[in-house]
Amino acid sequence: MIKIIVGTNRPNSISKLIASRYQEILREKGAESEILELERLPADFIKTALYENNGRNEEYNAFHSRVKEGKKFVFIVPEYNGSFPGILKSFIDGMTYPNTFRNKKCALVGISSGIGGGGIALSHLTDIFHYLGMHVLALKPKLAKIEQNMSDNLLTNRLYLDLLHTQADMLLEF
Ligand SMILES: Cc1cc2nc3c(=O)[nH]c(=O)nc-3n(C[C@H](O)[C@H](O)[C@H](O)COP(=O)(O)O)c2cc1C
Repeated sequence: MIKIIVGTNRPNSISKLIASRYQEILREKGAESEILELERLPADFIKTALYENNGRNEEYNAFHSRVKEGKKFVFIVPEYNGSFPGILKSFIDGMTYPNTFRNKKCALVGISSGIGGGGIALSHLTDIFHYLGMHVLALKPKLAKIEQNMSDNLLTNRLYLDLLHTQADMLLEF
């Protein structure tokens, strides 16, 4: 089961829409996946699940277990202030260190309103995942000017869709 992680907890995010589209693409290829939304994390997890409180927040632990059981991941990463959202790093800091992602595999998708497509954010995240021993697929689609390439909450840009299909094929082989 591939885990698709929505890299923001912003309500009604575009990232969630892209995650749903990615799930459809994987299903078309015969692969089942589960979407995990950081929005579902307990609102107080930064105070009740990190550092000396690691493992003490049952709701966080339940979410953590669903991530931990994964072997392959897709991270949908919106560009916030030139990098990835702080909530994603806080979530990673709450994971059991160092083994949650060791020897596992992931694919990264960047999105932005501007021209960057989350490129720098994906580089920052790649460094972190490599440090944690996770293998990151080389192909990282950067979906820039995302609002102009969506219509009725659907991704309409043919090239972007082709990139997601190609990445999904590679992830299944990875
Ligand atoms: C806090 C915040 C910071 C943002 N910073 C940037 C940015 O630095 N560059 C950019 O192109 N878009 C920026 N955006 C726009 C998001 O990248 C854009 O809305 C995104 O593609 C979809 O994010 P969503 O999943 O939260 O909807 C920012 C949005 C928010 C909420």
